[in-house]
Amino acid sequence: NTEGRCKYLSGFGNEFSSEDPRCPGSLPEGQNNPQVCPYGLYAEQLSGSAFTCPRPTNKRSWLYRILPSVRHKPYTAMHCGNLTEKWDEVEPDPNQLRWMPFTIPKSSEKKVDFVTGLHTLCGAGDTKSRNGIGIHMFTCNTSMVDRCFNNSDGDFLIVPQQGEILITTEFGKMMVEPNEICVIQQGMRFSVNVFGETRGYVLEVYGAHFELPDLGPIGANGLANPRDFLTPVAWYEDREVATGYTVINKYQGKLFSSQQVFSPFNVVAWHGNYTPYKYNLDNFMVINCVAFDHADPSIFTVLTAKSSRPGVAMADFVIFPPRWGVADHTFRPPYYHRNCMSEFMGLIKGHYEAKEEGFQPGGGTLHSMMTPHGPDRDCFEKSSTALLKPERVADGTMAFMFESSFSMAVTKWGLETCQRLDKSYYQCWEPLRKHFDPNWRPSKQ
Ligand SMILES: *[C@@H]1O[C@H](CO)[C@@H](O)[C@H](O)[C@H]1NC(C)=O
Ligand SMILES: *[C@@H]1O[C@H](CO)[C@@H](O)[C@H](O)[C@H]1NC(C)=O
Ligand SMILES: *[C@@H]1O[C@H](CO)[C@@H](O)[C@H](O)[C@H]1NC(C)=O
Ligand SMILES: [Fe+2]
Repeated sequence: NTEGRCKYLSGFGNEFSSEDPRCPGSLPEGQNNPQVCPYGLYAEQLSGSAFTCPRPTNKRSWLYRILPSVRHKPYTAMHCGNLTEKWDEVEPDPNQLRWMPFTIPKSSEKKVDFVTGLHTLCGAGDTKSRNGIGIHMFTCNTSMVDRCFNNSDGDFLIVPQQGEILITTEFGKMMVEPNEICVIQQGMRFSVNVFGETRGYVLEVYGAHFELPDLGPIGANGLANPRDFLTPVAWYEDREVATGYTVINKYQGKLFSSQQVFSPFNVVAWHGNYTPYKYNLDNFMVINCVAFDHADPSIFTVLTAKSSRPGVAMADFVIFPPRWGVADHTFRPPYYHRNCMSEFMGLIKGHYEAKEEGFQPGGGTLHSMMTPHGPDRDCFEKSSTALLKPERVADGTMAFMFESSFSMAVTKWGLETCQRLDKSYYQCWEPLRKHFDPNWRPSKQ
């Protein structure tokens, strides 16, 4: 465990500066691109927004590195495994879908690392027009050795579910444990080390970056607070790799590999507001109803990737953390609903309140656009007659949702190859029975 070696800067999207302590003064002072950089480093800008974006959305970082990224052999196409951007592989399926926990490869069978273990489950849109999302599962058992991943298509929001992951990035190292999430933005090279059987979820967005949601009447504090987001500090290795270091580039939905003779994690110092970051979900300040009825689940939004339509997200990352339920004369579980958004849910640990059975950690559900869903029969019956007193909800549990305004297609892997689809899911609502009584009258006080 190398957590002790990982150090972080706190804040969300701030203008950070960091130098590896082994090279004091490596960050140029007073300008970004001096004629000669300290320590003989190369300056390289990584732009995360159009140059002309308004200030609040303008994102870029300057990296000072031993060799520039461009020093690599040409990219050649490589095998994509189960990673895809083909949204018409199988016929559309509007049903409620539920997956049992996705299978993690045993290392005795074959070695699978983070990149080869990526499987696309569903998604929509298009990397070329910069508008869309993909939801992937990763299941792996081996660290990436002399291999890094560079995503030209979009940002990865990574939700580890089983096994901690050590992510080395050009900006430094982050240890990310289940119940934490991290975001690696477009074009940031990273490599993933694992320490056993590892599984998690990835939300990829093309053409937007994750932001903290606006708080409106909530005020200046609450939900995910900026200070709890952690960005790694500069860390470099000056390592030559005679056998070849492989940079894998995801570009227009396909993978390409290129060889170079040195480690890409050669950034000695950097500054800027375009960085990878992580966040511990326990730090989320939960807002909820304290009188009656429900607030909509948008109160649980950690991060949002906005679309160009006001108020409509390409995708929101929403969590259902442990909290108190106190609403009076209210059916407290999530209400029955149909939504103009698509809802993918995953479970990091514990049991989800609206479905005690069937939805397990490491599995998932997809409730597509306007597909009805809600509590199963047991949950409905119990919650309709429960004595309402303040009680803890979701202790020991962390469920989350990727909610999207896209109507997502499920891949062939998701519907067939993975063999984890639970065909009996719809049956959890079959026992719902009628309570209607035409003779019912309001009771006279
Ligand atoms: C796709 O996933 C399946 C099951 O998850 C796996 O057996 C298969 O090897 C993968 N295919 C490729 C090409 O990696
Ligand atoms: C990484 O991706 C960026 C685009 O996001 C691209 O400009 C760059 O050439 C890639 N670099 C390497 C070394 O893969
Ligand atoms: C992969 O899984 C096997 C079996 O559970 C375990 O013994 C091994 O240590 C794991 N490999 C890695 C690299 O964690
Ligand atoms: Fe829902």
